[in-house]
Amino acid sequence: MNELVLVLDFGGQYKELIARTVRGLSVYSEIRPGNTVVDEIKNLKPIGIIMTGGPNSVYLPNSFKCDPGIFKLGIPILGICYGMQLMCQIFGGDVRPCKKGEFGRVKASLKTDSVLFAGIHEKNTVLMSHTDFVSKLPDGFVSIAATADCPHAACESSSQKFYGVQFHPEVEHTDGGRKMIEHFLYDVCGAKGDYRLDDYIDTQVRQIRQKVGYQKVLLALSGGVDSSVCAGLLTKAIPGQVTCIFVDHGFMRKNEGDEIERVFSSRKLNFIRVNAQRRFLSKIKGVTDPERKRKIIGDEFARVFEEEAGKLGSIPFMVQGTIYPDVIESGGKLGSTIKSHHNVGGLPENLAFAEVIEPLSGLFKDEVRILGKKLGLPASLTERQPFPGPGLAIRIMGEVTQEKLEVVRMADFIMCEEMGKLKRKPQQYFAVYTGTCSVGVKGDDRTYDAVIALRAVTTSDFMTGEYTPLSHKVLSRIASRITSEISSVSRVVYDITSKPPATVEWE
Ligand code: XMP
Repeated sequence: MNELVLVLDFGGQYKELIARTVRGLSVYSEIRPGNTVVDEIKNLKPIGIIMTGGPNSVYLPNSFKCDPGIFKLGIPILGICYGMQLMCQIFGGDVRPCKKGEFGRVKASLKTDSVLFAGIHEKNTVLMSHTDFVSKLPDGFVSIAATADCPHAACESSSQKFYGVQFHPEVEHTDGGRKMIEHFLYDVCGAKGDYRLDDYIDTQVRQIRQKVGYQKVLLALSGGVDSSVCAGLLTKAIPGQVTCIFVDHGFMRKNEGDEIERVFSSRKLNFIRVNAQRRFLSKIKGVTDPERKRKIIGDEFARVFEEEAGKLGSIPFMVQGTIYPDVIESGGKLGSTIKSHHNVGGLPENLAFAEVIEPLSGLFKDEVRILGKKLGLPASLTERQPFPGPGLAIRIMGEVTQEKLEVVRMADFIMCEEMGKLKRKPQQYFAVYTGTCSVGVKGDDRTYDAVIALRAVTTSDFMTGEYTPLSHKVLSRIASRITSEISSVSRVVYDITSKPPATVEWE
C-alpha cells in the first residue's frame, strides 16, 4: 500500500490539479469531500491532508465545513485559500471580506526560514484569487508571507505541523509553488515518495490475472486514449483472452479508423472492426437537432455493440476505461445539462456481464497517457486530443451527409497538419462545417460554397477555456490550404469565443 495524502475538497476548481501535483511528486493522493468524517479519514491512514480552496465564505452559515476532529489526528495539514481560512477560523482566528480582493499574479514577501518556503526566493510571485482574507491569526500561528493587500498570505503553526497559504501553490502561475508542495510532502509529512506508475501497471496486471483467470474479457475500443490504454494493459495481463470491438461509426477523423485497426490488430487480442458507417448515417438522416443527433448516435452505438457482443457467446467480463476524474465527478453534479456527452466505448446498460473491470479508475488523464507510453502504444494514440463520442457528426451543423463529412474531415486534417508544425499547441483544435454558404470567386467564376470555421482552445480542464490567439500567419496558411484543396469551400473563419459563453464544440 502506498502512503496517502488526502485532498479534502471544498469546491475549489483546482482540486484535481492539487492531487495530480502530489502524485507527480511520487506521493499517492486521493480526493474526498471536505466534510468527510474523521473516523473515515483515520481509517485511510493518510500521512498528510491538503484542504482545497472553495467558492464560499467561511463566515456564512451554510459554507462548507470540515470535521474539526481532523486537527486532533496528529497529521500535518496544509490549507489552501478557503482551506487556510477554514483552519484559521476553527482555531479562533478572524476571516473577513477583503477591502480589495486580489486576482491574478501578485508580488509576495515570503519568510524563507519557514520549511514551506526553503530555497524559494523571498520576493516571489504568487497566484491569488480571493475576496476574503484572514484578518487575525489564531493563537499559536505566525504569519510567513504577506502581499500589499494581504497581511497573512501564508501562516503556520509549525509545532502542530499546520500550514496555510492564501495563494495557490498548485498552479504554474505561482513561482516555486510545486517546490512548496514538495516541502510539505517531504519535509513536513515525511513522505517516502513510494508512488510510481510502473507499480500501477504491475498491480493492475496482477489483479486482472487474479480476477479473470482463464476466462474471456470484452472491451469496447473507441481508439480514444482511455480505451486504447485499457487494451494495452489487457494485452500485457491476459494476452489471448481479450476481444476488442471497435465500432467505426464513420464520424472519425481522417485515417483514424485504419490507424486504430493497424495498431490493435497486430497485438495479441481478438480485434473486431465493425464498419457501421452506412448504418449510422442513415439513422441520423434528416436530423438537425444536436441533442437528438447525440442521442441517436449513442443509442445506435449501444445496439451495434450489443449485436456484435451477442455473436461472441457469453463473455463474463467487460472492461471500461473509466478514469479517476469520472469517479470523482460521478458523485452527482447539480446543474443543467449543457449537452449530453456520449462516450463511444460506454457500456450498453442492458448487457449482462458478471463483472465490469475498470483498471484505470485510479488515474488522471495525463497519468493514463504516461501509462500508455510505458505500455508501448504509439504517440498518435496516447497524445490524442479529446474527441467527442459522436465525432464529426457534431462538428457539422445541421444535417449530416457523406459529402459534408468528407469536407469537414479534410478541413480538419489540414488544420491538424499545420498545427502539428507548431512548437506549442493548444489543448484542442479542429474544423467545423458551419452549415452556412457564402459567395466567393474562384478563377473568373462566382461560387456559392461552404463556410468552414476553425476552433482552437487553451484550457486545463475543458470546463472553461480560452480561444487561442493563433498567429495570422498560421491562420492564413490553414485558410488558403482549405480553400485551395477543398473545392466546395469558399470561406474560412476563426472562432474567437471563449468558454463560457460558448462551449468547445459547436453542437
Ligand atoms: P464542450 O463542447 O462541452 O466540450 O465544451 C468539452 C470537452 O468535451 C469534449 N466533448 C465530448 N467528449 N463525448 C466525449 O467523450 C462527447 O459527447 C463530447 N462532447 C464534447 C469536447 O471535445 C471538449 O474536449
